[in-house]
Amino acid sequence: MTDRTIGVGMVGYAFMGRVHSQAWRTVSAFFDLPLRPEMRVICGRTKEATETARRRMGWDEALTDWRELISRDDIDIVDICTPGDSHAEIAIAALAAGKHVICEKPLANTVPEAVSMVEAAQASPARSMVAFNYRRVPAVALASRLVAEGRLGTIRHVRAQYLQDWIVDPEYPLVWRLQKDKAGSGALGDIGAHIIDAAQFISGQRIVGVSGLTETFVRDRPGGRVTVDDAALFVARMSGGAVGSFEATRFATGRKNALRIELNGSLGSLYFDFEAMNELWVSSGDEGFTRILVTEPDHPYVGAWWPPGHGLGYEHSFTHEIKDFLEAIAQGTDPSPSFADGLRVQQVLAAVEESAAEGRYKEVM
Ligand SMILES: NC(=O)c1ccc[n+]([C@@H]2O[C@H](COP(=O)([O-])OP(=O)(O)OC[C@H]3O[C@@H](n4cnc5c(N)ncnc54)[C@H](O)[C@@H]3O)[C@@H](O)[C@H]2O)c1
Repeated sequence: MTDRTIGVGMVGYAFMGRVHSQAWRTVSAFFDLPLRPEMRVICGRTKEATETARRRMGWDEALTDWRELISRDDIDIVDICTPGDSHAEIAIAALAAGKHVICEKPLANTVPEAVSMVEAAQASPARSMVAFNYRRVPAVALASRLVAEGRLGTIRHVRAQYLQDWIVDPEYPLVWRLQKDKAGSGALGDIGAHIIDAAQFISGQRIVGVSGLTETFVRDRPGGRVTVDDAALFVARMSGGAVGSFEATRFATGRKNALRIELNGSLGSLYFDFEAMNELWVSSGDEGFTRILVTEPDHPYVGAWWPPGHGLGYEHSFTHEIKDFLEAIAQGTDPSPSFADGLRVQQVLAAVEESAAEGRYKEVM
């Protein structure tokens, strides 16, 4: 184990803050890394709640002002786990101060914000990464590897869905995810962003044009007016000639976190559903699909964990993300997905919104 340490400060301590804390805590225990992260500062807005989070999650100190966090010499990495309305401001300030930045997705709430973040990343000697964690699910990483090896041949179809059901009840209150000024968009940016990134990552093709529609089924909730989409659907043209269909919704009753993706190529197909995240289904044509249990030591990331068949969970994808981020920092290379990749997803989100509003096909700018 290395003696080289690196100081981490994290902003936001709720859902993503808890998951990221778990990753920072465990990554050195399972992976042999060139840098050992030290969980120095956790930052929230209210003193008492941040202090409680600090104790539970294992951080050294608690602060209530992210600017103070960024000004500290003992912080080398800033981990942004806040809603999208604060990503750009925190990331740009942290990069200007020479801190490495890992930022939750979607990168920003608008394309201009994302452009400013990419410019800040390019101007800084520090490294930056956007946290599309699903790339680091072993089955998804394996899917990407199989496509890159040519096992599917020429990819013709990309079919992706991200289905949840947590706001089917019209009495569910108006949380920040349902407010455009805080979240940027609804199902589209929250979960649609994940399938856009996963589809591009697995297929090796970029989305170059879209035709979309969005819907808000419940416009008024306890707490006020919903200003984002509840569901977003679009079809897409991709850079390698494939066509794609995408669906992101929070109204798929009974579906909890069904991130599904299927690719059909000239030689074969593959299928993944996060609700059975240790499995990848593959087909070479004639005999339908067969299951690969993605728990073998030679599968991506798996060798660091448990014996075959002892499955991994949601949190492991974040540990893998942190591992890759630390290795990139140590090697002086750009982590993937970079802020530029995050901007590319943001441009697709914007094109879908514009297409839905105008009722016509839009190229992704
Ligand atoms: N990668 C994933 O799978 C995944 C899953 C969920 C959320 N996210 C993303 O993570 C981000 C956070 O989402 P979440 O679900 O953790 O939200 P959350 O509501 O659970 O937590 C947000 C946290 O940010 C804090 N916060 C808000 N504004 C702040 C500010 N100005 N300064 C300091 N702290 C502030 C809140 O106190 C809270 O601790 C969003 O960008 C979201 O899209 C990613």
